[in-house]
Amino acid sequence: MNILTIQKVKKIFGSGETAVKAVDDVSFDVKQGEILLIMGPSGSGKTTLLSMIGGLLTPTSGSVIIGGTDITKVAKNRLPDIRLRAIGFVFQSFNLFQNLSGVENVQYAGELAGQSSTKARQKAEAILNELHLEKRMRALPAELSGGQQQRVSIARALMNDPKIVLADEPTGNLDSQSGHEVMMLFHNIAKEDRRSVIIVSHDQRIKDIADRTLWIEDGRVSDAPPEPQALVRDPVCGMRIDSRYAPFSKTVKGKIFKFCSKDCLEKFNRR
Ligand SMILES: Nc1ncnc2c1ncn2[C@@H]1O[C@H](COP(=O)(O)OP(=O)(O)OP(=O)(O)O)[C@@H](O)[C@H]1O
Ligand SMILES: [Mg+2]
Repeated sequence: MNILTIQKVKKIFGSGETAVKAVDDVSFDVKQGEILLIMGPSGSGKTTLLSMIGGLLTPTSGSVIIGGTDITKVAKNRLPDIRLRAIGFVFQSFNLFQNLSGVENVQYAGELAGQSSTKARQKAEAILNELHLEKRMRALPAELSGGQQQRVSIARALMNDPKIVLADEPTGNLDSQSGHEVMMLFHNIAKEDRRSVIIVSHDQRIKDIADRTLWIEDGRVSDAPPEPQALVRDPVCGMRIDSRYAPFSKTVKGKIFKFCSKDCLEKFNRR
């Protein structure tokens, strides 16, 4: 069963000489329980595409159909509610409220959707327990590790039982161990909870859990991503990355090093 259908979606930023075609005529379906990975170089249109799927950005043309409703056609005032209930977002930078504890961040998402604070609290605690944060859920985001903050943000994304979970570089700020844990969580979210998961990432390892990988370049999507021509190893975590779209790089004495994440680059800098 298709949970999501996007048809001929286009996004043009600006107009005239300076117009940027960020997403150009993209169509695909996503089934229930499917994990779709979207890979592509920086600036290829990944975040723009994900934002349109999530109703955060309106396409210039085309349709985004979620559970039978074309969200590009619904009244603007209905969109926040659809977004809240149908879609869970996970971002690279976690986007947590810094003055709320982990459990309060998750609880708040439930309250926004109309749950009583008692119900929302119980549910938030249950989800965080499942994500093995029972001991740390009362801490503020600043007191949590990157991996723990990302688990809080995944819990928040699951709070209103969305059919679709969207993740933009969810492992980009994590070390390789936490990145692996987060990846396995997405796997469970799709295969046990039967949600559809769309992940945008440079992380080659996510291919291992993805049912399908799409490649995007200059706003255009193709089925078969080109085989990585130049796999190199991140010198810190040892992960294989495609040198063409490694998120971080550094040149030392004429030699170029590529990194899977900011965390690895920083560790490298401290050496
Ligand atoms: N609000 C905006 N106004 C104008 N141009 C934009 C805007 N947002 C994105 N763009 C442009 O659209 C193109 C696609 O951007 P997008 O952020 O989707 O890329 P991306 O694939 O997510 O890149 P990265 O891997 O670096 O995150 C880029 O050329 C970008 O400069
Ligand atoms: Mg992006």
